[in-house]
Amino acid sequence: MTARGQVLLVEDHLGEVVRLAQALRSRGYGVEVAADLASALQALRRRDWDSVLVGPAVDGGDPVAALRRLCTSTEVPVLLLARAPSHEVLDAATRAGAFMVLGAPVDLHALDLALDRAAEHSALRREVERLEQAVRGASRFDEVLGSSPAMQGLYDVLERAASSDAPVLLTGESGTGKEVVARAMHRRGRRAGGPFVAVNLAAVPDGLLESELFGHARGAFTDARTARRGLFVQASGGTLFLDEVGELSLALQPKLLRALQERAVRPVGSDEEVPFDARIIAATNRDPELMVERGGMRQDLFYRLAVIQVELPPLRSRGGDIQLLAEHFLTRAASRTGKTIRGLSPAAARLLLRYRWPGNVRELENVIERAVALTHNTELGPEDLPARITQGKAEASHGRPAARGAPVAGLVPLAEVEERHIRQVLEAVGGNKAQAARILGLDRKTLYRKLQGYGLEGG
Ligand SMILES: Nc1ncnc2c1ncn2[C@@H]1O[C@H](COP(=O)(O)OP(=O)(O)OP(=O)(O)O)[C@@H](O)[C@H]1O
Ligand SMILES: [Mg+2]
Repeated sequence: MTARGQVLLVEDHLGEVVRLAQALRSRGYGVEVAADLASALQALRRRDWDSVLVGPAVDGGDPVAALRRLCTSTEVPVLLLARAPSHEVLDAATRAGAFMVLGAPVDLHALDLALDRAAEHSALRREVERLEQAVRGASRFDEVLGSSPAMQGLYDVLERAASSDAPVLLTGESGTGKEVVARAMHRRGRRAGGPFVAVNLAAVPDGLLESELFGHARGAFTDARTARRGLFVQASGGTLFLDEVGELSLALQPKLLRALQERAVRPVGSDEEVPFDARIIAATNRDPELMVERGGMRQDLFYRLAVIQVELPPLRSRGGDIQLLAEHFLTRAASRTGKTIRGLSPAAARLLLRYRWPGNVRELENVIERAVALTHNTELGPEDLPARITQGKAEASHGRPAARGAPVAGLVPLAEVEERHIRQVLEAVGGNKAQAARILGLDRKTLYRKLQGYGLEGG
């Protein structure tokens, strides 16, 4: 590459060619000459250029026709050198898509400026193409973005799992994308035309869960004035997503197991089995093997659910994905809010990379959306990021949580202490919100609300 860029000079007149080529080379440009339109088109196909310069003697003295043809076949900026250009020529050239029209014989200083601008334009176009390609190439599995080795390794597994009908158990910390993956698997699978029915087993009270899942007969209980189909049957032809399956009570586990084995459910208050035909995808942010070991989950149920088990990696182990996802969320948030934000400053990108991301992709998404909403900058900088990211150096750089029970340093607002403590407890119990709520003495709803406030949950 020549420092100031590659110029394709399209000119027929030998004297003019020699003069221009020499002048450009001595100014640091790389120059190649095409004597006519056909060879110019060929040169454009052969490699990438920073600019095309069309001389006045091209194509039997009709450079505008040549220019029109060039502009339709390349995105490289095309400049026209015209002898004493009339208004008509200027007009026609502009309409044909000329990047710039210069009078010949050209003032070399003006030509310099024009070629520099063209080179800048080309560099920008390449950068846009590179980003588009990165996003396209990275979104190998539907909307699940990631180009890190950890994610690339997963795409094959996900692709194969999507095309099978076997039950899938998705594990991974909170916010790692289990639900996104479940939806993507549904869209990519054979049942894409059917419904995707999601139920959060932690969010439905135990007393209601059975009839929610399996349905109930008319009169099964006081409020049951009509019979109701359960979610298993509603999901027939599609996918049933059993979210937070690790929270299912031991009382309901045998019933779920039975349904999975029989491929039929028994509505509450009914003696009849109702068959269903749904693909089952379950998810949990707990360690299911550990739960089995400790008696929190039946082993037979675990085996039924985890015919295929997929562990989603935490964001902090996904390296470059942090920036990729940040740029993705930034572009999306910026276009939603109509703001012009070019990207992340290098300092901001470094901070994001260093942070531990206990809330994983969801936390990153919330951080970026908040930053885009509040910023007055055209590039997100450290000042747009929350304090826990800009100040959490010691915690972040070691890749492990701050010492538990360490005294709170300095005089800080109570809310900050509370947030820190909740994060520590949550981390200590491996993201299990139900357990964290119990330890903290909060009800689950209150904990969810607080986590939402910290950008750790929901959204
Ligand atoms: N690979 C990814 N590409 C793009 N967006 C992602 C990706 N992973 C997660 N997200 C986004 O992050 C957020 C959290 O993802 P999701 O709800 O799937 O997490 P989860 O693992 O189900 O978390 P939890 O265990 O807390 O329910 C979503 O808004 C989702 O759009
Ligand atoms: Mg989820």
